[in-house]
Amino acid sequence: MSKVITGFSKLSKSEKIDWLAENYFQDKKKGIETLEQYKNQDAKLQQLHDEFIENTISNFYVPYAIAPNFIINGKSLAIPMAIEESSVVAAAALTAKFWSTKGGFIANVISTTKIGQVHFTYKGNVSELRQYFSSIKDDLIIATDHITSNMRKRGGGIVDIELRDKTEELEDYFQLHVKFETGDSMGANFINSCLEAIASAFEKEGISIIMSILSNYVPECLVRAEVSCSIEDFFEEDADLYAQKFVQAVEIAKIEPYRAVTHNKGIMNGIDAVVLATGNDFRAVAAGAHAYAAKDGKYKSLTHAKIEDGQFKFWIEIPLSLGTVGGLTKLHPLAKLSMEILQGPNASELMQIVAVAGLAQNFAALRALTTTGIQQGHMKMHLMNILNQLEANVHEKELIIQEFKKNAVSHSAVAECLHKIRTGH
Ligand code: MEV
Repeated sequence: MSKVITGFSKLSKSEKIDWLAENYFQDKKKGIETLEQYKNQDAKLQQLHDEFIENTISNFYVPYAIAPNFIINGKSLAIPMAIEESSVVAAAALTAKFWSTKGGFIANVISTTKIGQVHFTYKGNVSELRQYFSSIKDDLIIATDHITSNMRKRGGGIVDIELRDKTEELEDYFQLHVKFETGDSMGANFINSCLEAIASAFEKEGISIIMSILSNYVPECLVRAEVSCSIEDFFEEDADLYAQKFVQAVEIAKIEPYRAVTHNKGIMNGIDAVVLATGNDFRAVAAGAHAYAAKDGKYKSLTHAKIEDGQFKFWIEIPLSLGTVGGLTKLHPLAKLSMEILQGPNASELMQIVAVAGLAQNFAALRALTTTGIQQGHMKMHLMNILNQLEANVHEKELIIQEFKKNAVSHSAVAECLHKIRTGH
């Protein structure tokens, strides 16, 4: 039987669910109950969520948590994180506490420029195209006046438009490469609207516009965050050895892509969790960060570490296109609350906070990896997931948590322990 349906988006929510249950659920009653459980009881709030996207049938939520004790540029902050992975928030909180007694994190924004491009083909004489571009460049900017006027009042707008000849890489292919400042908004809609207006004003016979779109590669929207301490403060015992191992772990991630991807994934655990909690676009941030990691033609670590004059120094440099106005940032009640918890940052301050969250996460991972190994902490945090999977009750959970304070956690060891509690042998 064909399951292709036309007009699905026009059905009511309950009609959509009925169709889905009829065609795809193994247990219709249970499936419908699960969707119902995740529905918000506040009808207005549910409607808000329903209207974020099309064809909503319920909500899919992840835990929302706080990592306290971050000191960033001397300011004390509690960082909200939205993430499902067991150990991420614990690691962030642990790292924040560790650095809070060592001067905290220092962060600064290097640049905030974003990029958009009009991609087009042109078969004619290149110097005529260059002349045409020079003659029309001011008009291209004027063509966006109605879109940019508010942004200009806030210090943003179009910074420059450049004609780029890409014909050596692709026949007849050129670009208008446009630089933007977007103030406290991420600026995706603003940039795309400007680009489309520019493309219409630029198009003429002989020029065929292929597409106009922002780039999520933002190497000039860059932030740096750093921690440092004397080596003696790095670790209670064998501080020299462990500081060196830490630096070596970073060096490995600079030359070995297999390691670099996992290293950077750990950084993104922290970055994405804060980006999501603040209602920003974590896919855009992730795409841009990974592209930046490969900017030298080889995929590398986004963090750096060194030991110099008895000082341990660890830092991250990462492109982050974020907003504190626009998008979901003021629309999603929890995103709004996140901004409040973060003391109402502007976009630059949020860039600093997010970079710090990434650096903290990488610090926690590397410190664990180069000392006890990652599994000890990871499995301790994962214990509750195993217990829930095995449907342990409150009493069983208490007993098992006590037991595994001393022993290594594994799925089979926990299952065995639970079996013993339940059967007495
Ligand atoms: C797990 O989500 C992240 C780590 O693998 C990161 C790393 O290896 O650096 C622990």
